[in-house]
Amino acid sequence: MRLTVIGCGYVGLVTGACLAAAGHEVYCTDVDRKRIDQLQAGQVPIYEEHLAEVLERARAERKIFFTAEASEAIRAGEVIFICVGTPPRENGEADLSAIDRVARQIATEARSPKLVIEKSTVPALTGVQLVKALAAYSPPGGVKFSVASNPEFLREGTAVEDFFHPDRIVVGVGDGATASTLGEIYRPILERRFYCPVHAGLCPAGPPAEFLVTTINSAELIKHASNSFLALKISYANVIADLCERIGADVEEVTRAMGLDPRIGKEFLRAGLGFGGFCFPKDLQAFIHLSARVGVDFEILKAAERVNKQRIDRFFEKIHKALWVIKDKKIVVLGLAFKPDTDDIRFAPALEIIRKLLEEGAAVHATDPQAIGKAKLLFPAVCYHEDPYEALRGADAALLCTEWKAFREIDWERAGQTMARRLVIDGRDVYQRKAMQQLGFDYDSFGRP
Ligand code: UDX
Repeated sequence: MRLTVIGCGYVGLVTGACLAAAGHEVYCTDVDRKRIDQLQAGQVPIYEEHLAEVLERARAERKIFFTAEASEAIRAGEVIFICVGTPPRENGEADLSAIDRVARQIATEARSPKLVIEKSTVPALTGVQLVKALAAYSPPGGVKFSVASNPEFLREGTAVEDFFHPDRIVVGVGDGATASTLGEIYRPILERRFYCPVHAGLCPAGPPAEFLVTTINSAELIKHASNSFLALKISYANVIADLCERIGADVEEVTRAMGLDPRIGKEFLRAGLGFGGFCFPKDLQAFIHLSARVGVDFEILKAAERVNKQRIDRFFEKIHKALWVIKDKKIVVLGLAFKPDTDDIRFAPALEIIRKLLEEGAAVHATDPQAIGKAKLLFPAVCYHEDPYEALRGADAALLCTEWKAFREIDWERAGQTMARRLVIDGRDVYQRKAMQQLGFDYDSFGRP
């Protein structure tokens, strides 16, 4: 099938590349001409494992094309995936202006019937507005449009794997024909007829993905409901961690036992600095906003958001307690990305920590395997190091903010020899207190005695 992808951010690129790998012909466009130039030249503007390989293969097989001319891309595909950004506005509401702009462009540029799919995360009832906008901007006697919602559940860092091996594919549609078209698009994924770079073509047998056909309103709600629930779970684990500290219990023991109950599940119960990234914080806010707008009390989500913001304060209490004075101390931030295996620093807890450390007059040093370039633009006053051991030389304290494998494997005996003071505050509960203490470290983490 010929598909169009509008918006070459991480969702658009992963969607476009993986659907091309599944055999479709994909035409991608973006308002950022520089990004299109890069993509045409074979460069990948974001760091996402396996994405470069999938794109390269699709390019070589002439299955994916990039153009800065939206009209060209719109006319090329029978089905259009809208993958543009929906950032939060000042009041937390999702900013849907990019969706509106794209709807207008599609309505005016299309010359044949199109199925228009919302892939960007949008609040419920956006589909209704999209139908209206497409009709309003169509010239008299213009082409026919159908609309569908197909939310993505991709995690950054494992997005390619998630796309090829989904738990569920949700399609919100208004009629059976649209459901069949979406079924055709995803058939190669459901039947595993694609080259999987994650498993080098030898994917382990697993349960097949569920292909769920719902209404458009339900599909839109499913995305926000899922992400908000996961955020809620993390905040719950974080409050348990605070309780453990007061009571003298161990959050890992508690959450492990909780997670063995299949009704609870073990994922997303890791306590620490809390969630960041461009999905959870903004989706939570947008869901709170939507609920308020339609008159539904969703107080528990506000509490989850509050708990998450307080993680940074709790971390600072630990830093103050251990260091006493922060001013002029050399403090090393291990990890800038909001989670490992991505260069994304949007809403990363490390940023808020750096901002506060700088405010208090610390000499801040930082290291991250992928995100230094992006952080430099935000905090030029920080001293960046590629090598964690270099960063830790002469340090008064190390703060673990992102649990990259390279940081999990730090040889603290070696690092400790060059630090001014052996102090580690672990924001991700990665190291073992006993082992750190045996090496002479003053060590703190969340919720562990
Ligand atoms: C999330 C959803 O998982 C994905 O389905 C959706 O499509 C987009 O949002 P992502 O933002 O890539 O994906 O990250 P995820 O792996 O879910 O982690 C989000 C944040 O929660 C990270 O900051 C992570 O460090 C934090 N987290 C996660 C915890 O603090 N504890 C946990 O137990 C799990």
